[in-house]
Amino acid sequence: MFGARCLLLALRRCSSAPCPKHMQAARLRVCEALEAQEVAGDIKVQGWVRSVRSQKEVLFLHINDGSSLESLQVVADPTLEHRDLTFGSAVEVQGKLVKSLHRMQNVELKAENIRVVGPCDTLMFPFKPRERQPLEYSRQFPHLRCRTNTLSSLLRVRSEATAAIHSFFKDNGYVHVHTPIITSNDCEGAGELFHVRTSNKVQEPGENSHFFNVPAFLTVSGQLHLEVMAGAFTQVFTFGPTFRAENSQSRRHLAEFYMIEAEMSFTESLQDIIQVMEDLFKTATSIVLSKCPQDVELFHKYVSPAQKGRLEQMLKNKFITISYTEAVEILKRAPQTFTFQPKWGSDLQTEHEKYLVKHCGEVPVFVVNYPYALKPFYMRDNEDGPQHTVAAVDLLVPGIGELCGGSLREERLHFLQSRLERLGLADAYQWYLDLRQFGSAPHGGFGMGFERYLQCILGVDNIKDVIPFPRFPHSCLL
Ligand code: 4AD
Ligand code: MG
Repeated sequence: MFGARCLLLALRRCSSAPCPKHMQAARLRVCEALEAQEVAGDIKVQGWVRSVRSQKEVLFLHINDGSSLESLQVVADPTLEHRDLTFGSAVEVQGKLVKSLHRMQNVELKAENIRVVGPCDTLMFPFKPRERQPLEYSRQFPHLRCRTNTLSSLLRVRSEATAAIHSFFKDNGYVHVHTPIITSNDCEGAGELFHVRTSNKVQEPGENSHFFNVPAFLTVSGQLHLEVMAGAFTQVFTFGPTFRAENSQSRRHLAEFYMIEAEMSFTESLQDIIQVMEDLFKTATSIVLSKCPQDVELFHKYVSPAQKGRLEQMLKNKFITISYTEAVEILKRAPQTFTFQPKWGSDLQTEHEKYLVKHCGEVPVFVVNYPYALKPFYMRDNEDGPQHTVAAVDLLVPGIGELCGGSLREERLHFLQSRLERLGLADAYQWYLDLRQFGSAPHGGFGMGFERYLQCILGVDNIKDVIPFPRFPHSCLL
C-alpha cells in the first residue's frame, strides 16, 4: 500500500456523506501517487493534462498537479475519451493505482472515470505539449507560464529555498521579525525610493499632505528595524519584499525583490558575519538540492549546463576573503581593459566583480573594508586613517556578482552622531542614535538578495525568470 501517512490524510479528506463513487475515492496528490510502492484501492487525482495519446486499445494521459516535476500516467479504455480531454484541460480521474509495466515508473492510474472539470482551447493556449520554450517566450505569459515544466520547477525550488532559509535561522537560534514595508527611512541613502501616497484624497487647505504626517516610502532594507530588535533578541532575521527604483532593464536588478537580512548583537569581528553568510549559503543550498533534486536537475540539464559543476565547486571550497584595497590592486594588474578604470575610492562595477571571481578561481569571494565615502552612514569606521575605510563586506559569486552586502554597524554614539550631523540626518535618526545610548552592543549583519541566490543555484541568467510574476511588459502589471 502507499505510505500510511498519506493514505490516512487522503481518507480524512474524503467525506463520509453519501456521494457518487468518483467523489468517494480518496484524493491523492500526484507526488503521493508516484511515491506509492504497491497497488492501492480507489483513489482520485486532480490536475491538468500534460499529454494525451490515444491508441486503438488504450488511452494514455499524463496528469500534473504541480506537486512534482513528474506527471502521473493514466491508462484508460478508449471509450473514456472525450473531445474536451485535451492538453491543458483540468481533469479529475478516479480509478485504481496499479503496478506499471513501464520501467520508468512504479505505478500508474487505471482510470474508471475521467471528468473534464475545465476544458482548454489548445489552439489559443500559448504552450504546446512536449515543447520546451525559451524563458523569454514564457515571460510573455506571466499568468500561464507556471503551467510549464520549467517554471513549475523553478517555483518549487523557490518555495523549498524559502523554507530552507527559515530553517537555517531557526536552527541557529535567530528570532524572525516582520519589518515594516512602509517606512520613512532610507536605510541605504542611495535615493532609490518609491514614494507612498494615498490615491485620490483631496487635500484640505492647511492639511498635511502626508498620510503619516511624514513622507513615506516602500522599504529598501529592513536593516535599521532589525537593529532595533537585535538590541533585545540578540540574533534576528527578516525575509521580505524590498523595493528599489533602479534600472529594471538589467539582468541582475528588480524593482521588487526579496531580501534575507540577519543582524547579530555582541559581534565584534567581520569574520563572524562572513561565517554566517557562508554557512547560510552552503546549508540552505544543500537542503534545496536534497529536497527537489529533479527540479534543480532540469535547470542544470536544459537551461544552464555549466551551473552544476560551478555550484559543486562553490559548496566544496572555502570561500575566499580579500580586502577592497587588494581587489583594486588585482584589477589594476589585470591583463584586460575595463570600461570603468579601477581606482581606489570608486565602486566596483559588474565587470570588476566578474574579473575578481575569475581571478580567485571561480569560487565566491568576500571583499572587505571598503572606502568610508562609498558606504552608508551606519557602517563602522575601521579607524585606519581619517575616515578611510569601514568594516563592510560584499560577497561576490560566480556568474552573478554581488550576492550579499553587510557590515559591522557603528555602535559608538559619538562616531555615529557626528557622521549623521555631517549628513544633516541627526534629527531624523534620533531614534537610531537612542539605540547607541541605551545598552549599545557591538553588532553587525548582512542582506542577501533572494532572487540572485536562486539565479546562483539554477544558473538562470535573467533575474526576471526567477520571480513568480515578471514585471513585463511594463504596461501589464499582474
Ligand atoms: O547590498 P545591499 O544594498 O545591502 C543592504 O540593503 C543592507 N542594508 C543589508 C543588510 O546589511 N541588512 O543589498 C543586499 C543584497 C545585494 O547584495 C543584492 O543581492 C540584493 O540585495 N539586491 C537586489 N536584488 C535584486 N534587485 C535589486 N534591485 C537589488 N538590490 C540589492
Ligand atoms: Mg550592496
